[in-house]
Amino acid sequence: MVNRRIAEILRNGQPDESLVVQGWVRTKRELKGFAFIEVNDGSSLANLQAVINQDLPDYEAIIKQINTGASVEVAGVLVASQGKGQRIELQAETVKVYGEADPETYPLQKKRHSFEFLRTIGHLRSRTNSFGAVFRVRNACSAAIHQFFQERGFLWVHTPIITASDCEGAGELFSVTSLNLKNVPRTENQEIDYSQDFFAKPTYLTVSGQLEAEVMAMAFSNVYTFGPTFRAENSNTSRHLAEFWMVEPEMAFCDLEGDMDLAEAFLKYIFNFVLEKCPEDMEFFNQRIDDTVLATAENIVNNQFERLTYTDAIKLLEKADFKFEYPVSWGLDLQSEHERYLAEQLFKKPVIVTDYPAQIKAFYMRLNDDEKTVRAMDILAPKIGEIIGGSQREERLDVLERRVVAQGMKPEDLWWYLDLRRYGTVPHAGFGLGFERLVQFMTGMGNIRDVIPFPRTPQNAEF
Ligand code: 4AD
Ligand code: MG
Repeated sequence: MVNRRIAEILRNGQPDESLVVQGWVRTKRELKGFAFIEVNDGSSLANLQAVINQDLPDYEAIIKQINTGASVEVAGVLVASQGKGQRIELQAETVKVYGEADPETYPLQKKRHSFEFLRTIGHLRSRTNSFGAVFRVRNACSAAIHQFFQERGFLWVHTPIITASDCEGAGELFSVTSLNLKNVPRTENQEIDYSQDFFAKPTYLTVSGQLEAEVMAMAFSNVYTFGPTFRAENSNTSRHLAEFWMVEPEMAFCDLEGDMDLAEAFLKYIFNFVLEKCPEDMEFFNQRIDDTVLATAENIVNNQFERLTYTDAIKLLEKADFKFEYPVSWGLDLQSEHERYLAEQLFKKPVIVTDYPAQIKAFYMRLNDDEKTVRAMDILAPKIGEIIGGSQREERLDVLERRVVAQGMKPEDLWWYLDLRRYGTVPHAGFGLGFERLVQFMTGMGNIRDVIPFPRTPQNAEF
């Protein structure tokens, strides 16, 4: 008999088809002479209902073994369902229980559990409707990202996890060197003697693959990264993770306009893709998590994003009829409340803010003629705030060297990066999309810890 996934059976299955399904039991209902079990294999939100008749050999023993959470294999024949809520069901001919789940201790029961509680059982929470839907949508977003770039001839490049440079210059680095500290002799004042270290210099987990992506763009024109990045920001918020995934395209012969155009087309493409591939999951989010999810998705797909400069954004915020917690004035970075005000209240759609003050942005952003602002762009999303950060890069060697020094970095540490400006430099631009913030935006999930299977946050790396 053919082994089939439940999503496909629910879509295409016809009465009289014989098949086998394998999955985990969501619920069991015992009635007179038979029992219903709902089986889920992760392929869809909906379960397949299997009917087990008491004339099955060992009926009593099998039914006793089957509880919520048990793993089963059911072979049988599809029949049209008499009951409400499903078109077809599986009439069981054989049932094999792989592993029982003791109802006394199995933490997932039929009732709705809070996300806080589910975070304490991260190894089991993927078996719930909400997390099933989140991780299917997360997967669809990944597929959309690759498809978008591959269709446009971008090369997927793999940038290192271990690096010696702090791309963002924010000092939020996890040290790798400490892994083998016990082999590293220390000098008298407890300074680490890096000459003895594995890499013979301080190394860190990468905060961004951008600098290496720039290297690759200077040979392949258009490239992208999609990989994990790490930040030791001690911000215990619903928008920050210590380990998150970032997508970073980098384009040679491209300016900030081209960068913004790509970013807008990119977000629209992903939303379209997910609406098409995961309609049931998106409907579920709209019903159960946030009733603006579908309207937001439509809005993204159909409307142009707003574009304005940082200077104009500050003017609007200064005029705003809204009490902000943090001050607003030219030169200060936008806080998430300001970002959300612009996207959520004022424009009611994503907003691209450009040309931020140089002193609050990274060293690699291209300096404008005013010498005060840089060719930066952040995309701000309703409910999330910053979802994308990008810029046109500084391609002029002398200006870049000045900026490196001004930000307290040593040009000799970045000799290879500066070389790109020595040999065949071109205007180029790129951006970074926070992948989990995208999944949050897409699903309406309130906390970023609930859109990644194994969240890493301060005080938390359990599973
Ligand atoms: O704005 P960021 O710091 O930009 C960069 O790293 C650039 N090198 C990107 C580039 O131009 N290639 O980070 C990019 C995005 C942010 O807009 C945000 O969505 C996400 O990464 N992000 C985080 N997501 C979750 N947890 C954190 N701690 C994050 N920090 C940044
Ligand atoms: Mg940023």
